Amino acid sequence: MPPASLPLAAGAVVVSRAPLARPGKVWNSQGMVRLDDIGLRYGRGPEVLHGISFSLPEGSFHWLTGPSGAGKTSLIRLLSLTERPSRGTISLFGRNPDGVGRNARQALRRQIGVVYQDFRLLGHLTAFDNVALPLRLAGEREAAIAANTAELLAWVGLAERMAARPVTLSGGEQQRLAIARAVVAGPRLIVADEPTGDLDERQAERLLGLLVSLHRNGTTLLVATHNERLIERFPAPRLALSHGRLVAQDG
Ligand SMILES: Nc1ncnc2c1ncn2[C@@H]1O[C@H](COP(=O)(O)OP(=O)(O)OP(=O)(O)O)[C@@H](O)[C@H]1O
Ligand SMILES: [Mg+2]
Repeated sequence: MPPASLPLAAGAVVVSRAPLARPGKVWNSQGMVRLDDIGLRYGRGPEVLHGISFSLPEGSFHWLTGPSGAGKTSLIRLLSLTERPSRGTISLFGRNPDGVGRNARQALRRQIGVVYQDFRLLGHLTAFDNVALPLRLAGEREAAIAANTAELLAWVGLAERMAARPVTLSGGEQQRLAIARAVVAGPRLIVADEPTGDLDERQAERLLGLLVSLHRNGTTLLVATHNERLIERFPAPRLALSHGRLVAQDG
């Protein structure tokens, strides 16, 4: 069983030290994330998500599944505020990110940890600085940043590569770096897009264990994957997409 017993005191410690203390219950715990009849089209192209409605209770863990092209990444782009819906409404932490100003939208964004399918690491920064960035944006003190970042990088097996630029890392190393960056600031919501696609089975379980341990500590978690073995290993309700529609939501 990975985390709980592992040095991942790291994850827990990082979370508990994080500056974004969770406020009292000001949102509806039945719908920390709520989508209501959402549609998405890219530019003038065809609609790729159609009439999507669901809610994720605070602290829940769901898998997001569906064949290639079903719309998993598109849905994650909406939840990570990378894209805006073409129709329908989203509620995150009780607020509509499309109905607030730029600063408020950025503040919402900083409460979401995202693992992008294509990593989106910053090429001009070292591995250390990529992971430290969310803590710097949150205004953490440098000493705390150094301790948390080093601890987490060591946990994901990158202690020796802290000074490396992302381009010099392997695919799996980049993926572990992307996961570390997503979790380091203790976000309230983590959305992860195929976060273990470049990892071997053992590493995939270990890293998924990290995400699940954060969920057990209260973080809301949504993970897109094709890996049925991982789903078996970490059972959780699933949102299933097919051709841009939600075809199943158990739990
Ligand atoms: N930036 C984009 N511009 C236009 N169309 C896009 C864009 N990104 C995705 N699409 C289209 O949206 C649909 C859903 O794609 P999406 O990437 O969300 O699928 P996915 O479920 O994540 O697939 P995969 O498992 O291969 O990652 C596809 O038809 C795709 O061609
Ligand atoms: Mg995808």
